[in-house]
Amino acid sequence: MNFELTVLPLVEISADVEVVIVVDKNLKHNFVQDKKLLKKAGFSCGQDETCLLVEKNRLYVGATSLKSTDIRRAAANAIKALKGTKYKTIKVASYTNKGCTYTFRAMIEGFILGSYSFETYKSKKNKNKIKEITISLEEYSERSLDIEKIAEQIHKAQITADATNFTRDIVNTTPDDCYPDVMASIAEGMAEDVGLKCNILKPKQLRKEKMETLLAVARASRHKPRVIHLTHKPKNAKIKVTLVGKGLTYDSGGLSLKPADYMVTMKSDKSGGSAVMGIMKAVAELDLPIEVHGFIGAVENMIGGDAYKPDDVLVAKNGKTIEIRNTDAEGRLVLADVLCYAQQEVQSDYLFDFATLTGASVVAVGHYTSSVMGNNKEVQNFVVKEAQNSGELATALDFNDYLKKTIKSEIADVCNISNTRYGGAITAGQFLSEFIDKKHTDKWAHIDIAGPAFVEHAWGENPFGASGAGVRMMVKLLEKLSAQNTH
Ligand code: BES
Ligand code: ZN
Ligand code: ZN
Repeated sequence: MNFELTVLPLVEISADVEVVIVVDKNLKHNFVQDKKLLKKAGFSCGQDETCLLVEKNRLYVGATSLKSTDIRRAAANAIKALKGTKYKTIKVASYTNKGCTYTFRAMIEGFILGSYSFETYKSKKNKNKIKEITISLEEYSERSLDIEKIAEQIHKAQITADATNFTRDIVNTTPDDCYPDVMASIAEGMAEDVGLKCNILKPKQLRKEKMETLLAVARASRHKPRVIHLTHKPKNAKIKVTLVGKGLTYDSGGLSLKPADYMVTMKSDKSGGSAVMGIMKAVAELDLPIEVHGFIGAVENMIGGDAYKPDDVLVAKNGKTIEIRNTDAEGRLVLADVLCYAQQEVQSDYLFDFATLTGASVVAVGHYTSSVMGNNKEVQNFVVKEAQNSGELATALDFNDYLKKTIKSEIADVCNISNTRYGGAITAGQFLSEFIDKKHTDKWAHIDIAGPAFVEHAWGENPFGASGAGVRMMVKLLEKLSAQNTH
């Protein structure tokens, strides 16, 4: 999909179809040329509601306000509404929120995110036919816009949304086609394309690094595990950030086998690791002036005679012993070792991990929201704020001492599950905190993306399947840090 920017007013642009966003039900706006027809068609201008006037070659879509979240969703829904039509080119005006170009960027993101479909396994493809979107600098509130600033927002939006779609593609790929070695190859190929360093650790090195809990989870699978380390290291970077992702290419639950209904969609248990890959791609393409490291634990959790078991005691890389009481709480075991390895390799100013870690997070905050945990409220709030600025939903969940006691073990340093059914997202986060060094205690946030990572009923700018949760929020946060880097 190509974007072209022009100073020409909308009337002078030729395109197959015009997209008009009706903001706050304002049908009196001069962009709305078909008020009577729209009323006749019963178009009530609600958020995401669309009305295609075929004879006029105009598509109207509602948005509650000029806020970036509303415009992003509207643009995504506009492009979805055009799927199946023969239109190949679009023209659209510029929308900003009182001159704030976040809204403009959001519109571009919405077009790219909304046009995504995963059709690898369909014999008959039904891709979106839109090839070209021409954007007029004619602005909704008649503001004059700086063409260079606007062009930069298009560039950033394309990188961010393409990285999100890249993540979606990895997550949507089936477990038989995307296992740890494949994830490593995808990372290597992407790194080569965008100029990142990529180091892959295979079982021999993983044993050498004493990543025994990760190896135990991987043991029953015919697919050997990998740890992927991607590096973006520009000269004179003053800020360092480490990202860690859970990359369970399949989570059957292991011997504590998941019920059949719960196993479906567990190809999405690699969403955290896939998000880290997408974020690293964007970081390289945006050429951010900060140092960013991405670590991914790519593992498959299966059953078999060689499987790790409830009652085992495993020793993590940092020497802590873990009593296993449920092999389905495997993500925290993989992350324990990868977090230790990441902290050994790089001392960072921020450490973030992304994981589809618990069903409890979904119960606590719903399907649309990621939960953000950690020891430092400021870091947690930073993530939540940038998530919201990026169009993702996130909320902070607080640790407490009482829940911490529920992961105590009688026979080892810590247990891999809690002794209570409640607060499972938090106890999982507190388990991970056992593997955060003192020097990173206040620099770490854990982001549980189990809710939004996989979409079973399309919402917002997310079609069915992987959403790419985590990518946009972290790209926004890293852009913010990049702005501070120069000071
Ligand atoms: N991958 C799952 C968590 C999950 C559930 C992700 C639903 C996405 C949607 C994780 O490995 C898991 O199985 N967690 C268990 C933990 C329990 C055994 C303490 C869970 O949430 O039930
Ligand atoms: Zn599990
Ligand atoms: Zn899992």
